[in-house]
Amino acid sequence: MIDPSTVDRIVETSQAQIIEVVSEFVSLRRRGVNYIGNCPFHNEKTPSFTVSPHKGIYKCFGCGKGGNAVNFLMDVEQISFVDAVRYLGNKFHIHIEEVELSPEQQQVKNDRESMMAVSGFAQKYFSQMLLKSDEGRSVGLSYLRERGFRDDIIQKFELGYSPEARSALTDEAIKKSYKLEFLEKAGLTIVRDDYKADRFRGRVIFPIHSISGKPTAFGGRILKTDAKTAKYLNSPESEIYHKSKILYGIYHAKTEITKKDKCYLVEGYTDVISFHQAGVINVVASSGTALTVDQIRLIARFTPNITIIYDGDAAGIKASLRGIDLVLEQGMNVKVLLLPEGEDPDSFAKSKNTKVLEQYINDNEGDFIKFKTGLLLKDAEKDPVKRAGLLQDIVKTISVIPDVIVRGEYIKECSALMNVKEQVLYNEIGKLTRKGREESYKNNSAQIQASNIASATAAASPSFATENPFEEIEREMIRLIIKFGDRNMMEKEDGEKEDIPDGSITVGEYVLAQLKEDELEFINPLYNKIFKLYDQNKDNPGFSALKFFVSHTEKDVSHLASDLLSREYTLSKIHQRFGAGNLDEGLKLDTLVPKIMNELKLKKVKTLIEQYQKEIKTVEQNKDVEKLLEIMQTMVKLQQLQSLLSKELGNRTIV
Ligand code: CTP
Ligand code: MN
Repeated sequence: MIDPSTVDRIVETSQAQIIEVVSEFVSLRRRGVNYIGNCPFHNEKTPSFTVSPHKGIYKCFGCGKGGNAVNFLMDVEQISFVDAVRYLGNKFHIHIEEVELSPEQQQVKNDRESMMAVSGFAQKYFSQMLLKSDEGRSVGLSYLRERGFRDDIIQKFELGYSPEARSALTDEAIKKSYKLEFLEKAGLTIVRDDYKADRFRGRVIFPIHSISGKPTAFGGRILKTDAKTAKYLNSPESEIYHKSKILYGIYHAKTEITKKDKCYLVEGYTDVISFHQAGVINVVASSGTALTVDQIRLIARFTPNITIIYDGDAAGIKASLRGIDLVLEQGMNVKVLLLPEGEDPDSFAKSKNTKVLEQYINDNEGDFIKFKTGLLLKDAEKDPVKRAGLLQDIVKTISVIPDVIVRGEYIKECSALMNVKEQVLYNEIGKLTRKGREESYKNNSAQIQASNIASATAAASPSFATENPFEEIEREMIRLIIKFGDRNMMEKEDGEKEDIPDGSITVGEYVLAQLKEDELEFINPLYNKIFKLYDQNKDNPGFSALKFFVSHTEKDVSHLASDLLSREYTLSKIHQRFGAGNLDEGLKLDTLVPKIMNELKLKKVKTLIEQYQKEIKTVEQNKDVEKLLEIMQTMVKLQQLQSLLSKELGNRTIV
């Protein structure tokens, strides 16, 4: 483990030298105080990729990617935070202090390293056997060649062969001083009281690589057409192999997935390999397991666009249907392509060159609505009951999509395709989701709690069954915390300090006090997290909110920070409406921050009033007089608060 203060130094140095870091990957030109170039994360002809040496961040205004130097490396090289820090340490000649591990941590690390070592050895041994031994060549290699796999592809995927002899690998490994304990833990050797045997003996070997390309597990295919044993055998779960978290082929595909901004998902080892051989590289398989959420998230690190390409048989259809909902639930885009009956991606890719294969996929992949209607509409067309069933099915899938706008697009399409009014679909989705949303708000720690505001409403606090109505204003508040958290309220935005009186407070302290007073929390959980992080770290010596958040190790935090800062290129809507004019004018923080704060409060009060107005109607209908009085009292208090806040804001109600 790298010592945290070394990490800080490396992050700071690379932030200051961000131009040098990025220049290794992107050719940059100076424009004003910033540098621009063509974005490495998406294809573009006119540069919208901007680096600010002053702020130590980059931002692409085309694809939206942004962050600090560490984020940049993580994205461009597809490596972990720790690897990025090591790389930068090396680059800037900062000696990396390693922290000592506890004995237990050391043990786990040693075990993992030993298992990795033994797996690496096994992979080389299997390859050697396949390519060099008589048995391997005549049995394994000839089989792979017969299937049409080229030698360069066999080498690229490090395919191998495990000899028939009971413990050929195990014996060789022990001779080379690898321990039986780790051969067993890595799933290579099966150990019983009276014998030990190689798990994969007599099979062709498909190594499963980690994201960084190390073989951590294996799949072995039997060559005999023997119904008694399974066609494929896979390594068991281990300290270094969690099958639900890895995808076959991800190491070889990741760069291409980013470049193409798309990932093909197929079923098995041979499908991935045949696609590569046909020149289509952005492909992975969830081999041996049904697709999992972790696997989808793994793809999400590289692209939001997935096309599922499965066999056209019943099992393929079932797996596709399941995959669709899982991918959509993760907020990603999914398309489906079913191959003609009797074909799997492996056989299908065999006869085709890159262009033909890509063209076929482009022409035949479709979104899930087309897929589902295509499957079911044939018998549903004339049968109204079946048609309604299909509609329900599609609506249910649309309802899992988290993004409102995307949902709206699909509703539009479904409406046109099935000839149903959009409003009807919205109603159906409303029925399905209201309950779900209420549940999720209940479980969300970030419920509205307003106390001067809240004590006014203690009687009955309404729950918000809609999207966060405070998003914009909350985001602005968080931007102020990140940018000015540690600055004095009496300073100007541009850092100019006139005489600052003793005892004046920082922006962060002010916001903290205000929120506490009204028992307010942010609705957006990420904003809450940022605010809590600020609260916990603000007293650290030399704390700078900006540096802290932009270089934070959690990606969602550092990305949001750089995203918010880069919004200054455009002018924040709120500022504009305040008539504060250009940011460069340097508005005083003790004008700006309280305004935003009051704006936030006013917005909350107004929303509460609206909620109560609705509630009054139902209470009136139910003739519940007591409840009615209670609400009226609350309303009076809220309206007083509203007028107070409006007055403070100079009657300019903004958001
Ligand atoms: N699989 C597995 N264990 C099995 C069967 C299948 O792990 N007993 C996984 C393998 O990753 C396999 C994928 O599921 O590649 C798809 O299975 P299948 O279609 O049966 O195999 P193919 O890939 O078509 O294999 P082959 O062409 O070699 O027969
Ligand atoms: Mn096959």
